[in-house]
Amino acid sequence: MRNFSDDAILLRTKGINKVFGSGKKAVHAVKDVDFAMHKGEILSIVGESGSGKTTFAKILLGLTQETSGEVFYDGKPRDLGSQAKRKQYWRNIQAIFQDPYSTFNQFFRVEKILNDCLVLQGQKNLKTEVKHEKMREACTFVNLKFEELYNKYPFELSGGQMQRLMIARIFMIKPNVLIADEPTSMIDACSRSTILDMLLKLREEQDMTILFITHDLGLAYYVSDTLYIMENGEMVESGAAEDVILNARHPYTRRLVQDVPKLNEPWDLDSVV
Ligand SMILES: Nc1ncnc2c1ncn2[C@@H]1O[C@H](COP(=O)(O)OP(=O)(O)OP(=O)(O)O)[C@@H](O)[C@H]1O
Ligand SMILES: [Mg+2]
Repeated sequence: MRNFSDDAILLRTKGINKVFGSGKKAVHAVKDVDFAMHKGEILSIVGESGSGKTTFAKILLGLTQETSGEVFYDGKPRDLGSQAKRKQYWRNIQAIFQDPYSTFNQFFRVEKILNDCLVLQGQKNLKTEVKHEKMREACTFVNLKFEELYNKYPFELSGGQMQRLMIARIFMIKPNVLIADEPTSMIDACSRSTILDMLLKLREEQDMTILFITHDLGLAYYVSDTLYIMENGEMVESGAAEDVILNARHPYTRRLVQDVPKLNEPWDLDSVV
């Protein structure tokens, strides 16, 4: 695993807090999080259900407003003050979520969904054949057949096809940062390893920086250069993946490490998915 500490920081946060509600019912979902992601890195946030992972991811994406703190992209404070700036930001940073059903507008056919990726990239005036060729290339990357799917609605696809369509979207948008929030939680082990391999291929072929979010430390260790451990809204430990696993200092991390079978044995994908 590479150590990224000397590489350029692409995405950084300072003192991020998120409180939902107020008074006695307030939930402090994210607590004072300092975070840095380097260019080309695969970084995982690992934590149990309810620890604040998705909330933090949505703050990074600009989909949830932080209560306090700051997000920096490419060395500058993030500015989402206008529609144009938000569009520009979402060209740079994209996500795939736990639930593919929530990603797609169910009233849009696959062709429109993929065409919107070209529009986001500013490529809306291409000839239909050129557009279709780009869509076909993206579908081939994720082992989908464009000709069979382009006229269908998302609800006519299987869960696995939808997961792959989400990655085809990312392939077309080519963001600098991809946030993958539990992208494999709803699928079987075989599709899971395919999806993970596709994410690793995206990094290799498009030099993508990837934030992977999971409750599964074994999986995170397999794919990541760097790990952040999140408990009750706090990042309790972080560092190079091997360091965090082998020299876990925080009791919560030690407990997570103990829960992973075979962590001290040689790793292959089949043992963790
Ligand atoms: N929109 C919201 N309104 C109120 N509370 C929320 C909202 N979204 C999240 N929360 C609360 O914030 C806390 C963190 O939730 P979050 O979804 O970020 O956890 P998570 O780590 O992603 O969990 P999981 O692994 O189950 O996806 C939880 O207590 C949750 O109930
Ligand atoms: Mg979540």
